[in-house]
Amino acid sequence: MRHNALYTILFSGAVCVACAVLVSSAAVSLKENQLRNAALDKQRNVLFAAGLAQTGEDLDASEVQRRFEGIRSVVIDLRTGERTDIDPTGFDQAKAAKDPATSREAPQNRASVRRLPDHALVYEIMDGDEPSTAVVPIEGYGLWSTLYGFLAVGQDGNTIEGITYYQHGETPGLGGEVDNPNWKSLWPGRKIYGAAGEPAIRVIKGTAGSPADAPHEVDGLTGATITSNGVTSMLDFWLGDSGFKTYLRQFQEGQAL
Ligand SMILES: Cc1cc2nc3c(=O)[nH]c(=O)nc-3n(C[C@H](O)[C@H](O)[C@H](O)COP(=O)(O)O)c2cc1C
Repeated sequence: MRHNALYTILFSGAVCVACAVLVSSAAVSLKENQLRNAALDKQRNVLFAAGLAQTGEDLDASEVQRRFEGIRSVVIDLRTGERTDIDPTGFDQAKAAKDPATSREAPQNRASVRRLPDHALVYEIMDGDEPSTAVVPIEGYGLWSTLYGFLAVGQDGNTIEGITYYQHGETPGLGGEVDNPNWKSLWPGRKIYGAAGEPAIRVIKGTAGSPADAPHEVDGLTGATITSNGVTSMLDFWLGDSGFKTYLRQFQEGQAL
């Protein structure tokens, strides 16, 4: 059977509209699921950083929930380091960093962080009534992408307990080795701050040695010096005066109770 040109155009148009409606309604209906999964993945990574879960462990939502029972989510004021009574449930740090009313321009930094939120969401691992570990968010540019992760810091506000990245676009096998459990296992026990109280922890080119021998150094990622330097830069920024240094000092003094 032969059709004229108008019929062909109308038919193709109808197919396009039907497909567009199908794809966009799928995207809208899945959006909530995606957001929930992203939030769950972040929570899993808080657990990984704090050593409350091992990489590779299959943690479903209820297990994450169970392990989060001993964790306090707190919104702190980045300018003073003090805890606030802002409800952490609805707090979106990335959104706060974009809104001029709740953020300011970041000082010049090598991590390419442009805006600093006034507030930040941190996680305190409780040992009874006392927080024993603080997990703080970190982010900064590597080679291709912004890396987003968490750093866990011990009660002294100085000893690293773990690091994880939950989102980045670095090359698998090169910068993507930030996800390698062997590399992450090099971090616990290293110290953040130098003698003058400045962030001194850095990823070097080559091999660093044990935390006792090289408390402020971590092995570089082979063939990925740019990503390695990105990790150093983001720690330098987020653990410094504009970042979590004031909060960690109060955490160490027990004031963050
Ligand atoms: C396709 C491709 C992907 C790369 N991906 C990364 C990367 O993710 N991170 C990184 O630091 N370097 C990456 N590099 C290498 C950098 O260009 C650069 O050579 C390297 O960071 C230098 O590190 P090195 O001195 O340890 O070799 C990539 C190179 C190529 C060709």
